[in-house]
Amino acid sequence: MSQSSPAPSIAHNKPPEILSLIGDTPLVEVTQFDTGTCRLFLKLENQNPGGSIKDRIALSMIEAAEVEGKLEPGGTVIEATAGNTGLGLALVAGAKGYRVVLVIPDKMSQEKISHVRALGAEVRITRSDVTRGHPEYYQDVAFRLAEEIRGGFYVNQFGNPANPLAHERTTGPEIWEQMRHDVDAVVVGVGSGGTLTGLGRFFNRVKPRRGIEMVLADPTGSILYEYVKTGQLVESGSWAVEGIGEDFVPEIADMSLVTEAYEIDDEDSFAAARELLHKEGIFGGSSTGTLLAGALRYCREQTKPKRVVTLVPDTGNKYLSKMYDNFWMAEQGFIHRPPHGDLSDLISHRYEAGEVITVGPDDSLLTAFKRMRDSDVSQLPVVDKSGRAIGIIDESDLLVKVHREPSHFNDPVSTAMTDQLETLPPDAKITDLLGVFDRGRVTIVMDGNKFLGLITRTDLLSYLRLHMPKSSAPPEREFV
Ligand SMILES: Cc1ncc(COP(=O)(O)O)c(C=O)c1O
Repeated sequence: MSQSSPAPSIAHNKPPEILSLIGDTPLVEVTQFDTGTCRLFLKLENQNPGGSIKDRIALSMIEAAEVEGKLEPGGTVIEATAGNTGLGLALVAGAKGYRVVLVIPDKMSQEKISHVRALGAEVRITRSDVTRGHPEYYQDVAFRLAEEIRGGFYVNQFGNPANPLAHERTTGPEIWEQMRHDVDAVVVGVGSGGTLTGLGRFFNRVKPRRGIEMVLADPTGSILYEYVKTGQLVESGSWAVEGIGEDFVPEIADMSLVTEAYEIDDEDSFAAARELLHKEGIFGGSSTGTLLAGALRYCREQTKPKRVVTLVPDTGNKYLSKMYDNFWMAEQGFIHRPPHGDLSDLISHRYEAGEVITVGPDDSLLTAFKRMRDSDVSQLPVVDKSGRAIGIIDESDLLVKVHREPSHFNDPVSTAMTDQLETLPPDAKITDLLGVFDRGRVTIVMDGNKFLGLITRTDLLSYLRLHMPKSSAPPEREFV
């Protein structure tokens, strides 16, 4: 038998190979939409290892900082973001062995925070209700941290020239080659402005004198559309599309490169992204919808055949509990159910449509508990085999039964549920709901013997928010 050879040594000075998979994303043609006289192509940036176009700038900004001596071995990468840039930085800087600290405004979803933490980033939560100049404004916190932490490097994607350079050197040339040097228009969104500036510079060089149109698709509520059209800086509104749209003109965004602009509202953006998944099987984020809707509008307005490119800037994975969730879409008013003009309009999950999580009287308390946890609710209606709501069980009912003797988890639900139901007919008034809530209960809506669904405090609040006059809603800011 031959002697066993020593284990191969691992070269620790080489970064993980995953970084070489950033960029060189595929480009596909849209075939299932009406594109008028044009052919429309999508650059699939959702296929980057971190799931978005921001992997490119993360790599470029970190490598530039290394070359310029702003980031040294053992250093700390600091950025103010909870969006894709944070994911890209956590991936790239983590892979290269740097510490990563992300300053994240407190309105960002737990999913996003968990995602960057899973990638190894440290998270500092700061306030989302303060603006530039306030000591707790997320960008100011990041700037200060970089001064306090030895070896700290503040990335600052909004002012970092290596951001547009990534697109000028990689995204642009890739599109040019993939389109066989035949492009008439590129449709982009602006978050930091890196994509616009980088692609605009590249395409102006390969086809000078605006030979390739740079088209902006901007969410309604952002100030950029108006700025391009009139040169005026207007007050911003709010929008739900993530990653693009701004309430200021970022330092690196060269808006003079834009030749045409479209304003797309949230509803059209979400509808376009969902349609893209259904028709073409492409799973993009919410801004993909804005860009696609803008590109389709541009295409359908043309009278000559043109070759148009836009992007799928990030993956739809992050939007499963938002844009791709029908309940969220209905709750936010983006999907419209035919109104009945009564209490049934407040039921977010309808029993008849199989949307209500229920439990049977003979199911065990353990089953009830697991169902509550899995669906993140604190009570379940108890429905018998004939579909009648005969009770309700909540966490307190469970606790009363099991706190002394956990084996009671095996007991049937019927032994712990409340059968004194607070039922209302659909034609009851909103004020009747308040009485039920005051007694600490949820409302069961019954049409005669027919169980329609539950109404909770949250359902009522969501309903009232949807009916708030748009002009009285304060603008919400976007954090890319
Ligand atoms: C989710 C998302 N992030 C970022 C960007 C690009 O923004 P920028 O390069 O302007 O930061 C886009 C552009 O379309 C986007 O959709």
